[in-house]
Amino acid sequence: MCGIIARIGQGNAAETLLSGLENLEYRGYDSAGIAVQNGSGVKVHKTSGEVSDLKSSLDSDPHGNMGIGHTRWSTHGPPTDANAHPHTDTAGDVAVVHNGVIDNYDELRTELTAKGHEFESDTDTEVIPHLIDEFREATGDTELAVRKAVDTLEGSYAIAAIVDGEEAVYAARKGSPLVLGLDDEEWFLASDVPAFLDHTEDVIYLEDGDLVVLEPDAYQISDLAGNPIERSIDTVDWDPEDAGKGEYDHYMLKEINTQPTALSNTIEGRIEDGDVAFESLPPGTFADVDSVQFVACGTSYHAAMYGGQLVREAGVRAEVLRASEYESTAGPVDETTLVVAVTQSGETADTLDAVRKAADRGARTLAVTNVVGSTAAREADDAVYIRAGPEVGVAATKTYSSQAVTLALLSQRLAGDVPDAAPVADRAAMLEALEDLPQHVETVLETSTAESLAEETLDSESFFFIGNGRGRSVALEGALKFKEITYEHAEGFAAGELKHGPLALVTEATPVFAVATGGADDKTKTNAIEAQSRGAPIVAIGPDDHPLVDIADAHLSVPDTHPVWTGLLANVQLQLLSYHAADQLDRPIDKPRNLAKSVTVE
Ligand code: F6R
Repeated sequence: MCGIIARIGQGNAAETLLSGLENLEYRGYDSAGIAVQNGSGVKVHKTSGEVSDLKSSLDSDPHGNMGIGHTRWSTHGPPTDANAHPHTDTAGDVAVVHNGVIDNYDELRTELTAKGHEFESDTDTEVIPHLIDEFREATGDTELAVRKAVDTLEGSYAIAAIVDGEEAVYAARKGSPLVLGLDDEEWFLASDVPAFLDHTEDVIYLEDGDLVVLEPDAYQISDLAGNPIERSIDTVDWDPEDAGKGEYDHYMLKEINTQPTALSNTIEGRIEDGDVAFESLPPGTFADVDSVQFVACGTSYHAAMYGGQLVREAGVRAEVLRASEYESTAGPVDETTLVVAVTQSGETADTLDAVRKAADRGARTLAVTNVVGSTAAREADDAVYIRAGPEVGVAATKTYSSQAVTLALLSQRLAGDVPDAAPVADRAAMLEALEDLPQHVETVLETSTAESLAEETLDSESFFFIGNGRGRSVALEGALKFKEITYEHAEGFAAGELKHGPLALVTEATPVFAVATGGADDKTKTNAIEAQSRGAPIVAIGPDDHPLVDIADAHLSVPDTHPVWTGLLANVQLQLLSYHAADQLDRPIDKPRNLAKSVTVE
């Protein structure tokens, strides 16, 4: 929720801040602002709306070599100009951007108001510049004031602050991501690497409790007590091109179309001699594991369902749990339980909360994530990266495919390690087919008829998606993607459940998309026929010779491959269907209303 950026160096900061914010808009886009510091003080420019609205509200680039910026997804207070960040103290000398939630802001605001501070917004953030100002008055030392201010805050934060007359950016993090970017002549701080990927690939992933002071020619990291800290410099291997839209109209379309590359990266080096080879998880890693719990939200939950089924097929006990329901739904946990957090961003609050609860109960934890240095990766006992590259469109596409493949590989590592488990009988064939998956996805992208099907079905009342086994998770994901970006009513069901209630909704105005997986699809076919006999048009998504295709009114074709991968190809067709339907409806595809990509509040 929310993206922050800061920059200090030679030359003007505004352009870098604004382009960095555009690359962070996936984190929120209901208001935006920057503050720059020059000889005539701290100047704040902010507005409700997107970064493009902020840009067009500026007559020219504000002058100043250092500044901070913010793109907002509202949590406290509606998206108004006043609630947009940066926020300042009463005199306007201290400007702050913040990502996170301050739990004790109400009492702090009351205390500060009693001391004469004047507030202008409904946000929790606004207490921070006032606190810094208060402690500056008391100590005469800005760094100490920032230290004392963050020490007073309860909740989560990544903040960056600039102060009138000071050639420095102050920043701190606890519970929200913050990365330092190091170029030859300028330093950056941001919620995520794409904000400054055009400038540098050398980064330091900051840790909770870190406080950073950036000056034009030096940076310094310390803990809250003021002790200096050394953090290693990492090199990110993302291409700056990955962060842009390229030739595509939308990030989502780009991300759908770059799945063959993403999948090749996911797989690379992870299959050797007909077996899985995970760099960070050598054979025997899971010898002490007795059962697995997957925790995830939204699309990642659907990928976890896919993986969970494969783990169970390998003979390992596995539950797939919605992270937000972990407290009430998880079975018993002990040190033989492996809890796998599936989270593209590695920052989803519900998922982090679930995995922390599991760790407290003694479980071993593993993060499956796309973001190196993310909170999930740092907090879990082990991490496996899905290597999908940056995903900017709010609707997850390539990260779903890369997660599902990573989890399928993980299922085979577990199958080899967990006592009494067994790899799938035709593991060599399955892994061989996986090596062909990027090419099969390419075929789907080149031959898909989803665009014309979207047009034909667009005036329907509701859109239903059904599947069985692995196909169920694909059906649920198809429905989530469809409703998320088209705003049309869509639901996904286990095929066999259709007749236990949802069938009452089925009419000739409710197309039913039936997912073939090459596995247990008999139920899908029987239930599709039932829906068809009530008038619903049936669309089969599967290989040409699949029995579902024989009864269907329309067909989205996928190449014939090992049944473990068929559902992932069907999912690519459903991504295209959603994309084209949303495009024909002229929806803001990359930024669907009310949604943000990284949901860092519970
Ligand atoms: C939907 C979507 C969300 C995320 C969910 C979890 O297209 O992207 O449902 O999958 O918010 O996010 P991560 O994977 O970052 O934990």
